[in-house]
Amino acid sequence: MLHAVRLVVACLSLFVGASYAATNAAPDAGAFDGQSVAVHEQAFVVLGIQGRPIVRVLTTDGQCPDLDVDGKLLSTILRAAPAVEPLRETGSAPVNSKPSVFSVRTCELSLPRHSETASLHGQMLPLPPKIINRIVVIGDTGCRIKGRYAQDCNDPQRYPFARIASLAAQWHPDIVVHVGDYLYRENACPAGNAGCAGSPWGYGSDSWQADFFQPARVLLNAVPWVMVRGNHESCARAGQGWWRFLDPHPLRKKQDCNLAANDKIGDFADAYAVPLGQHDQFIVLDTSDAINKPLPADDFRAQAYARMYRQMLVLDKQVAHNFILNHQPILGVAAEEDATSTVLAPGNQALQSVFKRENPRLFPDNVDALFSGHVHIWEALDFRNAYPAQFITGFSGTDEDMAPMPAKLPAHFTPYAGAIPDDFSSWIGGFGYMTMERSGSQRWDIGIWNVNGDKVNTCHLDGKRVWCDKNRLTGALGK
Ligand SMILES: [Fe+2]
Repeated sequence: MLHAVRLVVACLSLFVGASYAATNAAPDAGAFDGQSVAVHEQAFVVLGIQGRPIVRVLTTDGQCPDLDVDGKLLSTILRAAPAVEPLRETGSAPVNSKPSVFSVRTCELSLPRHSETASLHGQMLPLPPKIINRIVVIGDTGCRIKGRYAQDCNDPQRYPFARIASLAAQWHPDIVVHVGDYLYRENACPAGNAGCAGSPWGYGSDSWQADFFQPARVLLNAVPWVMVRGNHESCARAGQGWWRFLDPHPLRKKQDCNLAANDKIGDFADAYAVPLGQHDQFIVLDTSDAINKPLPADDFRAQAYARMYRQMLVLDKQVAHNFILNHQPILGVAAEEDATSTVLAPGNQALQSVFKRENPRLFPDNVDALFSGHVHIWEALDFRNAYPAQFITGFSGTDEDMAPMPAKLPAHFTPYAGAIPDDFSSWIGGFGYMTMERSGSQRWDIGIWNVNGDKVNTCHLDGKRVWCDKNRLTGALGK
């Protein structure tokens, strides 16, 4: 019997977009058996429950590969086979929707505790150090194509996520945090639009490649990631790919977003913690289905978020200092323009309504800071009266929100009744990334960087307090 001659193209190589062309059947790589075929693989490391590194391998091969872990060969396990998922109800009209074609096999291995090295076909995989001292935070990275709205995905100036990922890798972080919203190519590029011509669209693996895995490649090669789920990864949008590729929990059948009838399961994952090693940790919350309206206590979302809140209350006891990662800012400020003026909007109303039923101050005292995206700007907001600092880093590739933000918040404005803002800093209209470098006990130096790799602002986080050198940055380069 002839065996396939498998040529493993350099680990983490790009998948060729054309090989993902939608067909009626998923192009299972097993069909290549008997032929000489290049196997395309991409491997990356996701940090899961208690920071456990999970190696994920996306492959066109018909089987899951082995890893070399500390000199021993260990098999990766199938997480999701190639498949064509029938069209389900989505956030788009049926005419702008299609079945999701997943051409690649997702394989995974949760590494044994205390593993020191892991490699795939000779290529070393990034593992986190025991103490995390350097962190890159990015968010909202996809290229938006929805209805008639189309970002120029083909122009690296107007869609700079690949450049940002490359610059972030050159900073040599210990880990990367993505605060959510990875996939924005939901509908076809409008006919005649050269800016996005040729882009894949929908929620299958071709869109995931174009919007995330290709532009993020250098950073995925180099650094373990903490993945936060955005509303773009809710079940009615890119939730199928979220579960196949990125969520660190086991993939359970009804939680996979394939059937809209199961979205009440698929839209919610358990909270988990990622230790940072110095009496501090991230707690990751899946709030992908949180709309911006208060939720009555009997709403199923309210019940799910109350359950998640109580999980957070168990996790937060593990350490003295907690950072919360979730997609929609709970204590942030957004500027919204209507026909005649700009108004300031408070934090997410759904999450505030649920959390304040548990605790009128929203968070326990050992939560120092919140890291979110969703609003396509950079922002840092400090409070006088012991509320956690809020950072927003939704500025890493998706078209920016351009409503102007004041240099100072108006007197009496607050993102949450009772929280008194103090230092406030923002950057509207510039793409970039944020860095955090440990500089003492519960002190972090924060850098804000533009697409040229220039640091445009410096902030300091000390416990719950944050302050920045500049209050307001303007322009694409933040000068
Ligand atoms: Fe969002």
